[in-house]
Amino acid sequence: MTTGWTRSDWRRKPRVQMPDYPDAAAVKAVEAQLAKLPPLVFAGEARTLRRALGAASEGRAFLLQGGDCAESFAEFSADNIRDTFKVILQMAIVLTWGAKLPVIKIGRVAGQFAKPRSAPSEVVGGVELPSYRGDIINGFDFTPEARVPDPQRMLTAYTQAAASLNLLRAFSTGGYADMHRVQSWISGFTDEDEAQKYREVAGRIQDAMDFMGAAGVTSETVHAMGSVDFYTSHEALLLEYEEALCRVDSTSGLPIAGSGHMIWIGDRTRQPDGAHVEFCRGVQNPIGLKCGPTLTGDDLKRLMARLNPENEAGRLTLIARFGAGKAGDHLPRLIRTVESEGARVLWTCDPMHGNTIKAASGYKTRPFESVLREVREFFAVHKAEGTIPGGVHFEMTGKDVTECTGGVRAVSDEDLSDRYHTACDPRLNASQSLELAFLVAEELHDRRDMRKAAGL
Ligand code: PEP
Ligand code: CO
Repeated sequence: MTTGWTRSDWRRKPRVQMPDYPDAAAVKAVEAQLAKLPPLVFAGEARTLRRALGAASEGRAFLLQGGDCAESFAEFSADNIRDTFKVILQMAIVLTWGAKLPVIKIGRVAGQFAKPRSAPSEVVGGVELPSYRGDIINGFDFTPEARVPDPQRMLTAYTQAAASLNLLRAFSTGGYADMHRVQSWISGFTDEDEAQKYREVAGRIQDAMDFMGAAGVTSETVHAMGSVDFYTSHEALLLEYEEALCRVDSTSGLPIAGSGHMIWIGDRTRQPDGAHVEFCRGVQNPIGLKCGPTLTGDDLKRLMARLNPENEAGRLTLIARFGAGKAGDHLPRLIRTVESEGARVLWTCDPMHGNTIKAASGYKTRPFESVLREVREFFAVHKAEGTIPGGVHFEMTGKDVTECTGGVRAVSDEDLSDRYHTACDPRLNASQSLELAFLVAEELHDRRDMRKAAGL
């Protein structure tokens, strides 16, 4: 437990990647309004998730985290939420088959609105304007007015997050997530010629479902077949918003971020003495920490001590994001740091953020091959170190966008301009996401067979 911490202590620490609002009084007014609104998530849910992530850190569950790079106000619709949810569920079934473990499902959703940027301004056609920092901060349009940080956007983000969560809770328990339905959607994908190489696995999943059905295990007889646990997460970047939604849990008397079940600290805001670490260390939610190539072993030690002083399993998830070809240079040294400290963490792999390139056409993209290669490297390093690869973290959407290249229904460099809709980084589309799940499942399945052969 963190003693002597208050939700506004971060204000005395160095901050990076946060907006300078021109009107301080307007910010205060919005904060006061948000502070009166109900939290979006409840402490008991965050505790349940923490326990589940603890199980994943010990190899008894597997984490699937995915969703938009940046949620946007303009793209918000029930259909978009449903389609992303639908793909995550399909991926989860395929991964459950591969890992033979429960899969924890966390969306990058209902709060993923604020973005760190590599440069404070951008230049287009000789005009320089402040960078877009996500819809919760300023506007995407390339005009001076849109780029002014506007605190009212925090209220719009809260409303959108609340509406998204309401829909997700309904989908999770209202029959939509029935495992048999989800499994039938998967057959739709593998029936197509390009995806036929995944048909055998899909067939085996179907056999397992048919067997369970025949044995009387259906959504009517077993509640768990007809509903899912689905959690939300986002980068805790905009600390005014996070502070205003921080609440005290009435059961434990401890502070909890009410903005989402899990929050994470980005690769650009993980300074051990910085504002973001200061805020996150005091709330009880599961915390993610992005680990990029510049993270030193010493900083990781300090971060683990600050963020998880009690060394509780499930509290801290380390999200490795090094880039294809680079995991071997960085992951072993950080794993050894964790092991030498005896720290209990969950390791997951974000194969997106180290693999962004600029295509010849000028679009930011990520080759499917690089994404897959980094996942494979992540598994291989953990195998060599004897540690547990506990999950994957993707930027994806349920829509048929053309933002990442490759996949069985190949998206080429030339195709990128067709349906490039992301408000920030390029996402896997529905087909690429499911394909990746099949490939990760194979990886998990092989490891399982190897463990079995070794008598483990
Ligand atoms: C992200 O997850 O969208 C992100 C910006 O990641 P990172 O902090 O790892 O660059
Ligand atoms: Co991103």
